[in-house]
Amino acid sequence: MKKIIVKDNLEGAKAGFEIIKNELEQGNLNVFGLATGSTPETLYALLRESDLDFSNTVSINLDEYKGLEPTHEQSYNYFMKEKLFDAKPFKKNYLPNGANPDGEEESAKYEAIIQENPIDLQILGIGTNGHIGFNEPGSSFDSITREVDLVEATIEANARFFESKDEVPKTAISMGIGSILKANKILLFAYGENKADAIYNMVEKTPSTDCPASALQNHPDVTIIIDEAAASKLTK
Ligand code: PGA
Repeated sequence: MKKIIVKDNLEGAKAGFEIIKNELEQGNLNVFGLATGSTPETLYALLRESDLDFSNTVSINLDEYKGLEPTHEQSYNYFMKEKLFDAKPFKKNYLPNGANPDGEEESAKYEAIIQENPIDLQILGIGTNGHIGFNEPGSSFDSITREVDLVEATIEANARFFESKDEVPKTAISMGIGSILKANKILLFAYGENKADAIYNMVEKTPSTDCPASALQNHPDVTIIIDEAAASKLTK
């Protein structure tokens, strides 16, 4: 795992931007794996304002809340449109359809899309409990796209975006850890002290399903871009 330690979110976003720009200019970004959450927002602002051309690139997002229409303001479909896609046209944007009542069917469809479009570069955030996508602790390292239950900690962490905690969906359609590990290159971002334990568990502890992100130790090309606070528990 390569580590880039930065001062803050803006510096992290700039470091990530340079890597993405380079991949795109080398012709190595045909399929771009994207993430939601507050972590990549500054990066998406830099991409929006740039002159980078994604019109030949397909995007594939990690996950979507189950039960929300793509037009719902808290859906990840809506987030991506607002933060990136409206300003930056891609060849095609894939996100799970949270409005499909059949989670199994939606998951199988989405996993087939990932197989047909192998991801060149996957962006990741990390949950305070070490989740990647909505792969909560206990998720198998070879899991594929499926309907998952959100744990209480995730519901609480995401409640800030909803009117109340009760409105946070209880399940989601998420790419599995195994689906994520198939990406050619992975870029994980984390900022703030509340991510320090998750970063320590991901980087220094023996991989275990207790920390889903620790599966990334088994991937040959992972770069983590973290600020000093998120790096504060690392010993090496
Ligand atoms: P955050 O979420 O970027 O809003 O901190 C990250 C995650 O849960 O993966």
